[in-house]
Amino acid sequence: MTSTINPETLSGERIEELQQIAGDHMFMHAAQTNDWRGKLKVYTKGEGVWVETADGHRYLDAMAGLWYKSAGYGRTEIADAVYAQMTAIDSSPSGGATVPQVELAGKVAELYPDHGARSFFVSGGSEAVETAVKMAKKYSILNGKAGAFKVISRRYSYHGGTAMAVSLGGSPAADPMGPLMPGAIHVNNWNSYRMPYEGDPVDVAIKCANEFEEVIKHQGVETVAAMIAEPISAAFGIQVPPAEYWQRLREIADQYNVVLIADEVITGFGRTGEYFAPMNWGVQPDITSVAKAITSGYAPLGAAIATKKIADAFVGGPNETFKHLITFGGHPIAAAAALANLKIFEREDLVGNSKRMGTYLYEQLQSLFSHKSVGDVRGGLGLLAAVELVADRETKTPFPASAGLASKLPKALFDRNLVSFRAGDVIAICPPLSINKDEVDFIVSAIDGALDELESDLGI
Ligand SMILES: Cc1ncc(COP(=O)(O)O)c(C=O)c1O
Repeated sequence: MTSTINPETLSGERIEELQQIAGDHMFMHAAQTNDWRGKLKVYTKGEGVWVETADGHRYLDAMAGLWYKSAGYGRTEIADAVYAQMTAIDSSPSGGATVPQVELAGKVAELYPDHGARSFFVSGGSEAVETAVKMAKKYSILNGKAGAFKVISRRYSYHGGTAMAVSLGGSPAADPMGPLMPGAIHVNNWNSYRMPYEGDPVDVAIKCANEFEEVIKHQGVETVAAMIAEPISAAFGIQVPPAEYWQRLREIADQYNVVLIADEVITGFGRTGEYFAPMNWGVQPDITSVAKAITSGYAPLGAAIATKKIADAFVGGPNETFKHLITFGGHPIAAAAALANLKIFEREDLVGNSKRMGTYLYEQLQSLFSHKSVGDVRGGLGLLAAVELVADRETKTPFPASAGLASKLPKALFDRNLVSFRAGDVIAICPPLSINKDEVDFIVSAIDGALDELESDLGI
């Protein structure tokens, strides 16, 4: 568990100055200022799965940044690729392209199960979702469903922070938007721990998938353009569905001529042990939204990847043109970062490592059932796992807010040199795909220790 990170600490005075500026002038994303003011973690170095703060503390990042640092920190070859592109030509006149943008489109098609795929590059996950949905709507029009504008998604999912994406996600991110996008309709999400219906999990999963069909029939086939879901919902606590769920979604989409969008902003590029998660279930979506791991967060980039069938509908005359433009979408610097990142993926077999280490992580997490507070351990499909805590294992009753899990747990984990800010009722685990066994052990041991502390604090 040693790291070669050289300490690059800042003076106490400088750290205080940074705290002051941040406390007075910065919004942190989706965070209450009073929760971090004066104690903001300022990171100055990173290598592999390890990061270091300005005051010299070293942590294992069990969240891979925000679900994206798949190749790990400190990859200087990505920095070199970015430098080379920026000094050659940083961006091109409109209507043309640069070499890395073209090469990346080819590389994505090579890795994607449909090798005839075409990518629309954007700047991040929300834009990828917006692009995928807009593309699906236009495809529906071109495909003889002129009145199709409705999109079916799932409650408690997360598809991004922009207006259409917020409308599709059935989560608190909707605060304070008010009326959502007309035509956004939500169905039950898959939840393996608290299934929405009684019965055999596979039957229940199919029943959940069938809710999409019910909505299509009820709303009218001609009005529904797309259905969208995350292969594994992270927002809903890392919910891994049985293979039959996505297989049924595919059948429904085919039967009713509705575009099936997989939102793979978290799962895309290896997180589940395959380059794309539905490959685990033998399913090919029509459009896939990706971001995060495509560059491992070294530069902002996302994409809506369309299968050849969808993309070909946009080849024709002015009527077929996809009238969608985002100035910095697929920026050459980000494309260069993505290509260098994906080269590392292939050279180091990070996707294979995700599968192997994901299985090991899931096995090791089972030991946490020795804690009375552990109700469920989820994962087993690559390096995406969760531990759910409950006040009563029998009844699956959650802890009351007054137990303070969301503040106590991240602190207890930080005290054990583990970054897992997504720790509360559910402790999410999503480390870089380059992780090794010792580092997996470090994660499990830190959670074990933090649960000891929590349970003793709560008198369990
Ligand atoms: C499944 C999913 N879709 C979309 C998004 C939005 O991506 P971004 O934050 O890059 O806009 C996220 C972000 O976490 C996500 O998890």
